[in-house]
Amino acid sequence: MNPLNHVAIIMDGNGRWGLKYKNSRNAGHKAGLNTVERIIKETIKNNIKFLTLFAFSTENWRRPKKEINYLFNLLENFLLDKIDDLNKKNIKLKILGSKKFSPKLNKLLINSEKKTNKNNKLQINLALNYGSKSELISAFKKIKIKKNIINEKNIDRNLQTKNIPNPDLLIRTGNTKRLSNFLLWQLAYSEIFFEKKLWPAFTTKDYNKIIKEFKSIKRNFGKI
Ligand code: IPE
Ligand code: IPE
Ligand code: MG
Repeated sequence: MNPLNHVAIIMDGNGRWGLKYKNSRNAGHKAGLNTVERIIKETIKNNIKFLTLFAFSTENWRRPKKEINYLFNLLENFLLDKIDDLNKKNIKLKILGSKKFSPKLNKLLINSEKKTNKNNKLQINLALNYGSKSELISAFKKIKIKKNIINEKNIDRNLQTKNIPNPDLLIRTGNTKRLSNFLLWQLAYSEIFFEKKLWPAFTTKDYNKIIKEFKSIKRNFGKI
């Protein structure tokens, strides 16, 4: 049985779900947040130590302003409402991506990270304004400034995911088979599951089914 230490999820399909059932993409984002809560609980139950959630990509700025504003409002209210609860559950929150939001949201994100910094039951990495290519470029620049050599160890160390083990398992919901600029370096040896269901419809049963299947995969890492 494979150990499962880190699950990464591309939470895709909110917009389509919202349009189909509520005639509004934003309603899909709201419903997607309930799935986030369910999956966090189930991740703890499964004793998984790292959960990385892709919530907003560097490319998502190309969306209509109204949708972007709605998403960040949702996040702001979620954090205001839930951060104490997450803290009580011994969850550590880390933001991946650059915090270039409203001063209010930036501050809330920094404070949420600070508040939960010492927790160690589960680390949730929330990828917000995250793009893997720009993360890699910054890493290369940092290595160059320090006049260090480019090797695997130095790249690992200069990524935002330093001190976080690579994902063992990547799940993308929403019936689309692509990575959309997510953790391109870190996913080199992850097991990848593309799930047909849209994110708001994704259940703990679906999650556990994937985990079970993951555990029985023969992971070779180049060996036989
Ligand atoms: C949610 O899914 C992920 C975000 C970018 C916030 P989408 O909003 O991409 O939903 P679809 O793919 O349009 O259905
Ligand atoms: C990927 O979903 C980003 C997030 C889930 C946050 P997108 O819906 O933005 O991906 P593309 O644009 O369809 O590839
Ligand atoms: Mg999408």
